[in-house]
Amino acid sequence: MSDDRTDRTDRTQHTESTAPLDLGAFPAGFSWGTATSAYQIEGAVAEDGRAPSIWDTYTRVPGAIDNGDDGDTACDHYHRWPEDVALMRELGTDAYRLSISWPRVLPEGDGPVNTAGLDFYDRLVDGLLAAGIDPSVTLYHWDLPQALQDRTADSRGGWTERATAEHFARYASVVGARLGDRVTRWATLNEPLCSAWIGHLEGRMAPGWTDLTAAVRASYHLLLAHGLGASALRAAAPGAQVGLVTNHSTFEPASSRPEDLAAAVRADGHGNRWWLDPVYGRGFPSDLRELYERHGAALPERPGDAGTVAAPLDWHGLNYYFPVTVADDPTGPVPHAREVRLPDVPRTGMDWQIDAGGLESLLLRLTEDYGAQRLYVTENGSAFPDTVGPDGRIDDPERARYLEAHLAACARALRKGAPLAGYYAWSLLDNFEWAYGYDKRFGLVHVDYATQRRTVKASGRRYAELIRAHRAQAG
Ligand code: FCB
Repeated sequence: MSDDRTDRTDRTQHTESTAPLDLGAFPAGFSWGTATSAYQIEGAVAEDGRAPSIWDTYTRVPGAIDNGDDGDTACDHYHRWPEDVALMRELGTDAYRLSISWPRVLPEGDGPVNTAGLDFYDRLVDGLLAAGIDPSVTLYHWDLPQALQDRTADSRGGWTERATAEHFARYASVVGARLGDRVTRWATLNEPLCSAWIGHLEGRMAPGWTDLTAAVRASYHLLLAHGLGASALRAAAPGAQVGLVTNHSTFEPASSRPEDLAAAVRADGHGNRWWLDPVYGRGFPSDLRELYERHGAALPERPGDAGTVAAPLDWHGLNYYFPVTVADDPTGPVPHAREVRLPDVPRTGMDWQIDAGGLESLLLRLTEDYGAQRLYVTENGSAFPDTVGPDGRIDDPERARYLEAHLAACARALRKGAPLAGYYAWSLLDNFEWAYGYDKRFGLVHVDYATQRRTVKASGRRYAELIRAHRAQAG
């Protein structure tokens, strides 16, 4: 136990290091980007033919979202996108990760295409390219058309149904056919773990259930949707570079008791291996599969699916925010591993532990254990309660420190051979942080929601400085 602790403390201290960033580790041509997602920024939920998604529904559930917030207006990016593209230029970024709202494009989930919805993304992509910013498009960042959730009489369809994966493939080909002449970097899904586990098992995200059977089915259909969507994209948009974005944490045991060590293995299986093994052709991990089955949750497998899910990736996107420490919890929910809150460690405004070492080790695990050929950090960032100074400036040294510590972790992973090709800071803008509403601010750019005024924070200016310095050095 004490050994584990020492280890973690060392890494935490590294997080706080003030050594200059090793910019020489980042190759020339490294993509410097920011990321957002449709429901978190767009607003305009009822405009130009968009239909509701499961998040429009979930935000109406009393008590589901802090302060009763919703995404109805969000950052009004649907109307203000030219200003937001100008902000990306001001930061000096050369890449932008956005997501497409499925119910804007196919309001029924399947059925007729809403051309006006697709036109919005067409304009946005053209605007980005004209500004010299490379768009990276994620097809699914959690906003499932409500119509697909309602396909079964009890409104319990959605990802528990195999048909949803098939509808996703059609959606992928519709978007690929329209934007594929200009967009090359595509992701099928963002963080399927959150959709399946947080949405269907923990009940803290749409659709808000606590049902292991539904969650395991959803996890399976999400990964199937990834595989089917990847081939649909490749068929519709020759030259598409197709990837998947998954979120991971490191899982440390709270002590060296065998029960805690076993809990950490289970937590790692539930949070990491379940999402990586099938995609890298190893099938679903048998220890987890047995655990879920013991609780009555079986995979809805069909012959041939394993190959579909394991279609080779052109790139892999890692979202990393925090490490997790766990203890055995035999009577708690699957995977029977309880999160232990370490005292005296630095934390963000989300109460997430700060440990940049976790990013380095996950990049190396994807490289060495899974053989990932091309990696991007597709999200990484921190929320802190910002204060706007009397001069209107936002000085946010903690966010800047988090950013630099994690870029330093990227540099270390690069030096050790990780094929890391880009980093997208989460997020360009303060935005609708899901169940936390607007209180948690992750932006490099501050948004005053009353006026929609944008102000680049000090962390954003620091990011711009680092990008400039890297360009000057890499030539
Ligand atoms: C990730 C989500 C992203 C954002 C960050 C803070 O899990 O992909 O939309 O909410 O967390």
